[in-house]
Amino acid sequence: MISSTANKIGRALSLQVRSFTVSSASLSDSLFVHRDTPQNNPDVPFNFTQENIGRANAIINIYPEGHKRAAVIPLLDLAQRQAGGWLPISAMHAVADMLSMPKMRVYEVATFYTMFNRNPIGKNFVQVCTTTPCWLMGSEKIMNCLKKKLNINNGETTSDGQFSLLEVECLGACVNAPMIQINDNYYEDLTEKDTEEIIDDLKAGREPKAGPRNGRFACEPRDGLTSLTEPPPGPGFKIQPGL
Ligand code: FES
Repeated sequence: MISSTANKIGRALSLQVRSFTVSSASLSDSLFVHRDTPQNNPDVPFNFTQENIGRANAIINIYPEGHKRAAVIPLLDLAQRQAGGWLPISAMHAVADMLSMPKMRVYEVATFYTMFNRNPIGKNFVQVCTTTPCWLMGSEKIMNCLKKKLNINNGETTSDGQFSLLEVECLGACVNAPMIQINDNYYEDLTEKDTEEIIDDLKAGREPKAGPRNGRFACEPRDGLTSLTEPPPGPGFKIQPGL
């Protein structure tokens, strides 16, 4: 009897001290929760410009009656562009008002999609893809080159407000790896030299040519076609004579 009680106590104690695991610390670029700051709080006014109200209405009109809220993402994007590349909380409120949505629904969208920057960013927002294809093709070198060239770390902005640097997941141009996105432009098939040239151009106020930097037009095979090399057979190919 005594030994069975002792066994039960032993099991209970071992359950209490059982080790458990937690997920690793998130190194996301920003908090999911909002914290009021002097430049980002609900009292800072945000109003769409007349021009953007016209654009917003044109976007809203694409969606059928009863589904106007589907315009929330393009409207948040419009607000972000107007605010200089980031999305203040008062801009989210303006979108919520425009679409008659609960503010919480807008926060849910704005905090889910990483394309919305909820903190101010530099004039040139440099996003470096480091997902597997880009990593295999040398994205680490590109990232290190940018850190050195801009003298900032991942997630930081230069003191003159010209550049922000951020490591991101796949940007959908894997076949042109390694690649970076700067504002709306993709720069692809990069070497460290290309990366430095792009930054030098931007620093000098020039707009570097977007796209692949290794002579490719788009994402065609680097060393010529390996399939579909014959001229296409044309209409009627392999159709039965009776037809
Ligand atoms: S992995 Fe870099 S664009 Fe897809």
